[in-house]
Amino acid sequence: MEEIVSNAVQPHEWKAPSDKKKEKANRAQLISDINPENSPRLPLPDQELNRVLGGGLVPGSLILLGGEPGIGKSTLLLQLAVQLKGQRVLYISGEESEQQIRLRAQRIGLDDSDCYILTETATQNIFRQIEQVEPGLVIIDSIQTLYSSSYESAPGTVTQIRGCAGELLKFAKETATPVILVGHITKDGNIAGPKVLEHMVDTVLQFEGDRHYIYRILRSVKNRFGSTAELGIYEMSGSGLKEVPNPSQVLLSQRDLTLSGTAVACTMEGLRPFLIETQALVSTAVYGTPQRSATGVDLRRLNMLLAVLEKRCGFKLGAKDVFLNIAGGLRVEDPATDLAVISAILSSAEDIPVDAHTCFAGEVGLTGEIRPVNRIDQRIREAARLGFNTIYISRYNLQDEIIKAEKEINVVKVSKVEEVFTGLFG
Ligand code: TYD
Ligand code: MG
Repeated sequence: MEEIVSNAVQPHEWKAPSDKKKEKANRAQLISDINPENSPRLPLPDQELNRVLGGGLVPGSLILLGGEPGIGKSTLLLQLAVQLKGQRVLYISGEESEQQIRLRAQRIGLDDSDCYILTETATQNIFRQIEQVEPGLVIIDSIQTLYSSSYESAPGTVTQIRGCAGELLKFAKETATPVILVGHITKDGNIAGPKVLEHMVDTVLQFEGDRHYIYRILRSVKNRFGSTAELGIYEMSGSGLKEVPNPSQVLLSQRDLTLSGTAVACTMEGLRPFLIETQALVSTAVYGTPQRSATGVDLRRLNMLLAVLEKRCGFKLGAKDVFLNIAGGLRVEDPATDLAVISAILSSAEDIPVDAHTCFAGEVGLTGEIRPVNRIDQRIREAARLGFNTIYISRYNLQDEIIKAEKEINVVKVSKVEEVFTGLFG
């Protein structure tokens, strides 16, 4: 396979439109002479996308957008294509007909957009159309459908994917035109056509979420032009994807404040504090082996927290079914969620609701100690901003970080899970 790629016929010769030609031979430069501002970015109408890219599209960059089928990749990019002002966009689809795309664009809303649609899979034809349309941005949906006659294997094979991406990379760099590729993700979470694409492109974005819920998260997995800590949040609506600039507010808005088994966690997703509701249901197991189920958090983490509760608080959870869920279908990995998870479990087990204006940010260790988490000041401020009046955190968080935030909200410092229990339920 490897051999075929390197010995393959040269890809289609791309002839750049003369005004875009950038044929300069590179020269070594003193590092201090290099102008850091020399990469002007193209700001996008979509603020979440801008944020994830690190402040707009970099000319000549090759971006890969990965995600499971049906998650909304085509919607996100078509939306970008029709809403981008001042740039002609060429949206190339190998998956849908022009009519389908037009209908979808109508749902999203297209007003005087400078967007061209091409349904084509042969790269040679694509480059011919690019020469005619002279777009400022090219979108390919998807890389797996492309086919270059320079390679003999079928579309979707590693050789084709790598070859076609290589041709597009060359085009992007030679003409300084940004190119966005859609890549389908296989069941095991890899962008099909293994890791080859991730190495070639400048930026890898991942579109995630549960298809059955409305929220979507756009993450940057690799970015040569920005931080990978940023993320964007969207809501899938009847008329396309809506940006969610204030995720905590949306995620907490549908809470029933009188029910037991829920607790709000103050997590960090990327660089943004983010309040989410954790829900637990603890009930007596009807059949022999108790069930444990976790949606949105790692099941092993849940099992660990249950073991800690059993050992340190004397809760007999061994004979109980425990279900855990993160509201909104989101997935969290921040260990600061632990404290809210155990509070939700305790609340359900005792059938006493946690006060609706209390939230949590702390990691739970194996000995039942509450461990400090990063950016505690930001988390506390976010909790205060959203109207919470009490936050439980670790006693071991640095004092000066907390003092600044403490004026706005009651900060309860705990060092052991037992203290959380007595703090909450007396
Ligand atoms: P799509 O963009 O086709 O996903 P992908 O390209 O990642 O496979 O989005 C598919 C889902 O989004 C589909 O189930 C319908 C839904 N959808 C909406 O809910 N609202 C909309 O306005 C649009 C365009 C799609
Ligand atoms: Mg699609």
